[in-house]
Amino acid sequence: MVVKMQSLDAVSSEILAAVAAADSLDALEAVRINALGKKGRISLMMRDLGGMDAEARKTAGQSLNKAKDAISAAIDRKQSDLAAAALDARLAAEAVDVTLPSRPETEARLHPLSRTIEEVIAIFTEMGFQVAEGPDIETDYYNFTALNIPPEHPARQEHDTFYLPPDKDGRRKVLRTHTSPVQIRTMESVEPPIRIIVPGRTYRSDHDATHSPMFHQCEGLVIGDGVHMGHLKGCLIDFCRAFFGVDDLPVRFRPSYFPFTEPSAEVDIGCTKEGGALKIGAGDDWLEILGSGMVNPRVLENCGLDPEKYQGFAFGMGIERIAMLKYGIPDLRTFYDSDLRWMRHYGFLPFDAPSIHAGLVGGSN
Ligand code: DAH
Repeated sequence: MVVKMQSLDAVSSEILAAVAAADSLDALEAVRINALGKKGRISLMMRDLGGMDAEARKTAGQSLNKAKDAISAAIDRKQSDLAAAALDARLAAEAVDVTLPSRPETEARLHPLSRTIEEVIAIFTEMGFQVAEGPDIETDYYNFTALNIPPEHPARQEHDTFYLPPDKDGRRKVLRTHTSPVQIRTMESVEPPIRIIVPGRTYRSDHDATHSPMFHQCEGLVIGDGVHMGHLKGCLIDFCRAFFGVDDLPVRFRPSYFPFTEPSAEVDIGCTKEGGALKIGAGDDWLEILGSGMVNPRVLENCGLDPEKYQGFAFGMGIERIAMLKYGIPDLRTFYDSDLRWMRHYGFLPFDAPSIHAGLVGGSN
């Protein structure tokens, strides 16, 4: 028996050493099975107790239980140590440093049209506008009729419309010639008050240095109770000054005509043109940048709104045009050339998002 106890001590310390040496959860599990598993060394010794006399079994049983408890406790401790170390290693290996600065060495550039749209959105969302969208392929009704441009109206000719092949009922859809149809779609589906802008693609069959068959516009629409021309003027003056970054920029409203607004006004900003160089700001010349007006009561009626109850104003601008003016881009066609040298010159750093607070006059390159 004495011999047996000595061997238990030796076996225990051997197992405890193996526990201490285990360097992974798998290795530790192997040690556990080898000691306490069904055919483990301690378990086999437990089984041998059956063949002993009562007195010897009692002493040996106590010693074995003590050894087993000590080994179990050592395995548990080691297990939690190894699990913690494994978690630490995983956290270190999978760590993402969210404080990493943006990559100034990036070759990527944001297209000036994307940048301009972001700037327009930043200004109008600050004023409480939401961004709305509509389909590029429109019905004749939304693109023209609902906007008070009935068939045979001369404005239809001016739009140089791209028509799709007629459907089985002879109706021809169009590539929208302006973003104004989204006014109609919004008034049909949203209860006033409405305050939206609609940046998007538009299409006309026209191609030269100042026209592209695909171009971009941004529409605006405000509908409410008691909206008047003063709101239109204040909103658009603020927009022009914020967009061009000129606090005292003169803004002029010139009477005009659009079928969907009454009265209508074109909006000009002050500039100087000296020796071919254009400078935006107070000067002796004007540049037209926007169409606008009070929403025609007929358009409100077409959308099921009572013109006695609701009024509103609308505006529309060409994104390419305001981008060319702000960033000094001389030829419209270059926007779509995908020329990398042009992008490096006129593009924007992608991480330099415009905001009213951070500034709208982004650093080019
Ligand atoms: N849809 C007009 C165009 O494409 C632009 C426009 C002018 C939109 C006046 C408006 C507006 O909403 O009120 O030329």
